[in-house]
Order: sequence, then C-alpha cells, then structure tokens
Amino acid sequence: MIKVGILGATAYTSLELIKILLRHTGVEIAYLGIRRDEKPAISEIFPALEGRIDLKCKGIEPEDVPGDVKLIFATLPPTIAMRYIPGIVKLGVRVVDLSADYRFKEKDVYEKWYKAEHVDPDGIKTAVYGLPELFNNEIKNAQIIGNPGCYPTGTILGLAPLLKNGLIYSDDIIVDAKSGISGAGREPTDTTHYCERNENIEAYKVGCHRHTPEINHILSRVAGTDISIFFTPHLTPMSRGILNTTYAKIKDGVSHNDIQNVYDEAYQDKTFARVKTKGKLPRVLDVANSNYCDISFNIVDNRVIIVSCIDNLIKGAAGQAVQNMNIMLGLDETMGLL
Ligand SMILES: NC(=O)c1ccc[n+]([C@@H]2O[C@H](COP(=O)([O-])OP(=O)(O)OC[C@H]3O[C@@H](n4cnc5c(N)ncnc54)[C@H](OP(=O)(O)O)[C@@H]3O)[C@@H](O)[C@H]2O)c1
Repeated sequence: MIKVGILGATAYTSLELIKILLRHTGVEIAYLGIRRDEKPAISEIFPALEGRIDLKCKGIEPEDVPGDVKLIFATLPPTIAMRYIPGIVKLGVRVVDLSADYRFKEKDVYEKWYKAEHVDPDGIKTAVYGLPELFNNEIKNAQIIGNPGCYPTGTILGLAPLLKNGLIYSDDIIVDAKSGISGAGREPTDTTHYCERNENIEAYKVGCHRHTPEINHILSRVAGTDISIFFTPHLTPMSRGILNTTYAKIKDGVSHNDIQNVYDEAYQDKTFARVKTKGKLPRVLDVANSNYCDISFNIVDNRVIIVSCIDNLIKGAAGQAVQNMNIMLGLDETMGLL
C-alpha cells in the first residue's frame, strides 16, 4: 500500500477524499494535517468517519509529514496552499493541490485574479493542469498537479472536443452555470446561510468570477487560439452538483453527426466523461457522489447547446484528485472511483 496524506484535513473536500481513499485498494491514508491547535482523531471532526478510520491529526508543517508518505492532497484555500506546498515538495513528496495556486502558468494572471503575490513561481512553471481526459500524459510524471476548479471541469470537458476540431466559432461562447452551496467550502457566510439559499437562486460575480481566466487559459491551449468566454455562475439550493449550459455558434455545414463524432473520438475510452445519447440530458442527481461528467448537445438553428454536469466535490475536486493520483502512481485511473 502506498502511503498518502491530506493537508487541510478539516475541509469539505478532505472528507470526500477520505471516503474515496478508504475504499481504494492501492493506497493508505498515513497523514492528516490540520491547522487547529487541538489535534483530535479525524472521526471527531467528521462523525461520518466513526469506526472507519481512527487516525489522529497532525500539524501542517513539513516536519509533521511522516517520512514514508509519497503523495499529499492539499485542500487548503487558494493563496494559502502555495505557502505550504514548496516545503512538501522539498521532502520529495508529490502533491495534488485542489486550490487554484498551481492552475495557472502566468504568474501575473494568477496575481490579478487572486489578489496575492505568487510565492512559488518555480512550482507553477513545472506544475501540470490535472484534467485527465485532456492531459493524461503530462500528469503521469508531474511533481505538482493543479487540480482543476469545479466550474472549469464541466465547462472545459463540454467545449474542448468542439474547439479542438474547429466545429464552433471561438468568440461568442456563453456559459451559464448553476452550483450547489458546498462549492463555497465549509465556513458559513452571509451568502451561504440557509435562509439566503433555501428556495432561492441567484446569479453572482457576473463576468468576473475567478474561474473565468482558468477556463479561458485551458480552452485557448486546446483550441490553439485565444478564447474568451462569457461566464455567469448561479447559486442554487442544492448541497452539491454543478450544471453548465453552454451556447456556441456552429460553423456552416456542421451537422449533429460531426459533433457526435468528435465527442466519441475524445471520450469513448474515457470512463468518467459520459456523452448522453440523443434526446437525453444530464442531471445533477445522476452524477451526485460520483466522478462522472455527463455531457449532452443539441443543435438549435446555428447554435450548439451543450449541457454538462458534475458533482463539484467529486469530479470537481476530490474524485478528480484521486484520478490524478492514480495516474501519477501508475495505478488504474478508476481505482477507488467506481
Ligand atoms: N468545495 C468545492 O466544491 C471545491 C471544488 C474544487 C476546488 N475546491 C478548492 O479546494 C480547496 C478546499 O476546498 P473546500 O471547499 O473543501 O474548503 P473548506 O471546506 O472551506 O476548508 C478549507 C480548509 O483550509 C483550512 N484553512 C483555512 N484557512 C487557512 C489558513 N489560513 N491556514 C491554514 N489552513 C487554512 C481550513 O481549516 P479550518 O477547518 O481550521 O478552518 C480547512 O481545512 C480550496 O482551495 C477550494 O478552492 C473546492
């Protein structure tokens, strides 16, 4: 069993990681780091884990990491993760970072959107964007993985085959996304308060959400040309799940079959990207608690309307992180995830 750990083990995404790793037959959780002064057993923080794991938490400094740990998942907030990850890498430990700190190649773009100086510029040069359906080969040998954001995962998987094959125009792409509240993490705020969310749906950060540059950055790489999407996220009264509806203009003569063919080519051997058969649409309920991204498309006049759907905590975070770990460790990509 390969020993792995979690830095920031009190996070929502950490609970999901622990649940997945406990049913994984190739790895064992050997380290759980938390910043709190008290270091209880993890089941005291997450009662759902009672009787399943009794590991006591430790601190989050490099010296707290046991010497036999080979890979660590960082579930710290953006701008915080990059303060700890270089110390972990110095130990020779590989890292899958769930924050945004290693998703960008351009330091200035990160700094503009995250309003903090990037303190590990060497790390971002070598880090790999961990979207396995697109970048599997690069992930294998990475020291640091920047695990994709939740909105970007579904959006990019929906658009990438069409942009890569030039079937849609690269301008005028509109993404309308709806997320469950766990996307905002564990700490309650005014906007995540039950009374604000229950029986309510609202748009937020119109045109200025931090996932916009991440989506543009990766889609530009895939398309080989600059992409700038219009992105409007919404908060919905669900605990988990994201549904993206994406509108793009198709090029003259592009048919339903052409689009079906590029999706088939891109995803037919990719377990976790499921393209729905004609007439069927993705639903949050069908991907909840799973690592699947469900995708559908419909042509309406000169537009294709793509619907893609994930569980933000699994394919949008912990599940995708384990998928990346499996690839890094040379294990079957699906281990622990089916
Ligand atoms: N939630 C999602 O759907 C989702 C999806 C994709 C990516 N992500 C990313 O994954 C990471 C974890 O997300 P989450 O939603 O699971 O987070 P979360 O539930 O809000 O937990 C955040 C974790 O970071 C710790 N922390 C906060 N401030 C810290 C500081 N200054 N120094 C050290 N530790 C600190 C917290 O410790 P305490 O418990 O002691 O406060 C907690 O362990 C974030 O970077 C997030 O952006 C989240």
